[in-house]
Amino acid sequence: MKLEVKAVHSGYGKVTILHGIDFHAGSGEITCVLGANGAGKSTLMKTIAGHLPVNRGEITIDGKPITGATALQVTRAGIAYVPQEANTFAELTVRDNLLASALNFTGTASRIDETYSRFPILKERAHQQASTLSGGERQTLAIANALIGAPKFLILDEPTAGLAPIFVDRIVDWICELSREGMSVVWVVEQNPEKILNISRTTWLIDAGRNRETLPSADLLQPGRLQEMLL
Ligand SMILES: Nc1ncnc2c1ncn2[C@@H]1O[C@H](COP(=O)(O)OP(=O)(O)OP(=O)(O)O)[C@@H](O)[C@H]1O
Ligand SMILES: [Mg+2]
Repeated sequence: MKLEVKAVHSGYGKVTILHGIDFHAGSGEITCVLGANGAGKSTLMKTIAGHLPVNRGEITIDGKPITGATALQVTRAGIAYVPQEANTFAELTVRDNLLASALNFTGTASRIDETYSRFPILKERAHQQASTLSGGERQTLAIANALIGAPKFLILDEPTAGLAPIFVDRIVDWICELSREGMSVVWVVEQNPEKILNISRTTWLIDAGRNRETLPSADLLQPGRLQEMLL
């Protein structure tokens, strides 16, 4: 499955944030998006996910336009999105989060058990309200919610920001596993991106709502290269 964003303009009301962005991801790979605070990374993800309108340009999946699709249509087309913030149903228990996420799909009953075997911590916390989970547990739930419909594409907006190293490692391992199973992943990275760059093929650098450079992630792991690029 291939996702293509072509010369997309988008933003909030009359304020344009993305000024003709291009972006490609797919074929079971992990693709990184990197840029300074306010560069427009989350805006790009919200636009792909159907949460913001595309003012100009086009978004396609396997060559078919999804420009203007609603968030639900994008989800049902196989693209799951984990927002940077407010990414669980805070008032619901872990189990009810998973059940609520499953409502968008048919034939997901067995997937709750599958979710518990992939993420045992969620089984332990099944009856706890999401708002009372630790940061790492909550991010795990957000990812599990996104996976409930067996997507082909997973978009993660800074899923490891502020988490303890043990949860960062767990999330990196889970995402590697999903990628080996054939899922394509888009990962917005911010602080300490080395672990994630290490498992990704390509990184798209964006700056002030425009493409800055697209390069093999391994290049950014050369000493000093990342600092140079983020300046
Ligand atoms: N709801 C909104 N209404 C108006 N402007 C917004 C809104 N959300 C974001 N912006 C603006 O859009 C620009 C890009 O924000 P965005 O959240 O996409 O950046 P980002 O690259 O994800 O940054 P960060 O690394 O801090 O998450 C910023 O100038 C921000 O102030
Ligand atoms: Mg962001």
